Amino acid sequence: MILPPFTPIEHPERVLNFMVRTVWGLTDPQRFYALMQEAQALCVPGTYLGDNLFTWGKSNSPFEDKRFVAAWENNCQNDADRAIAWRRYILACAAFHCAQIDGDFVECGVYRGTSIKTIVDYFGKENFDKTFWGYDTFDYNPVEHHAFEGQTTGLYQEIQQRFAGYDNVRLVQGLLPQSLEGNSPERIALLHIDLNSAEFEIAVLDALFDRVVPGGMIILDDYEWSGQYRLQKIAEDAWFAERNYRTFPLPTGQGIVLKR
Ligand SMILES: C[S@@+](CC[C@H](N)C(=O)[O-])C[C@H]1O[C@@H](n2cnc3c(N)ncnc32)[C@H](O)[C@@H]1O
Repeated sequence: MILPPFTPIEHPERVLNFMVRTVWGLTDPQRFYALMQEAQALCVPGTYLGDNLFTWGKSNSPFEDKRFVAAWENNCQNDADRAIAWRRYILACAAFHCAQIDGDFVECGVYRGTSIKTIVDYFGKENFDKTFWGYDTFDYNPVEHHAFEGQTTGLYQEIQQRFAGYDNVRLVQGLLPQSLEGNSPERIALLHIDLNSAEFEIAVLDALFDRVVPGGMIILDDYEWSGQYRLQKIAEDAWFAERNYRTFPLPTGQGIVLKR
């Protein structure tokens, strides 16, 4: 696999600020953003506000990697896609690692395909020579009260069109985990799980964890979020504890498991 080129830092003394008005769980958004603007003025540069993160004095690495910035920006379709730049960069860096080991890439929970497309575009679709499997029901959301905009008849076809020319991406429509049967790889380098459901995520781990190769990575998109997502962490912690694994909780809300 030809890897994305390294971007050397040209101006060590300069760090970027990133601020978008997309966070969740606010009781008074207007006051929150006014206070955040004021807080940003009190902080050293290198701030990130968005996706329920407020950090400062950081390098903001996602925005230093030119190939990533292009892949992320070209694939943003809504405000949430912009806000989760840091989450997307965690995925891109995991993909960089996993591209160099045996096994395919798998995403369970594709929706509009933005994370898959961002990763493949980070490499360049002509350079990406692994198979990337994406599983979703697409046209409806089986998780109660969790349908996303546009999840109706025709979404699967629309997303297939979005991947026209991406010959290494295989989108499989159907309910997980059943849709994996006879239609999934035996060796997995990168497993991204983003189903918003403890029950379905555990079912996918039951089916796929043993196929993740040593050195491979599992990324749980909602692992560290509280509220309705907390049940996922609770179920996953118990599942991994039985196997002597512990999940790295990230401030982005993701969880990472390194397979040995
Ligand atoms: C948060 S979205 C995925 C977003 C995507 N990973 C991204 O970053 O752009 C979650 C998706 O999981 C799908 N999903 C949830 N449970 C599922 C199941 N049991 N089988 C198939 N798809 C499922 C939903 O239809 C929805 O499209």
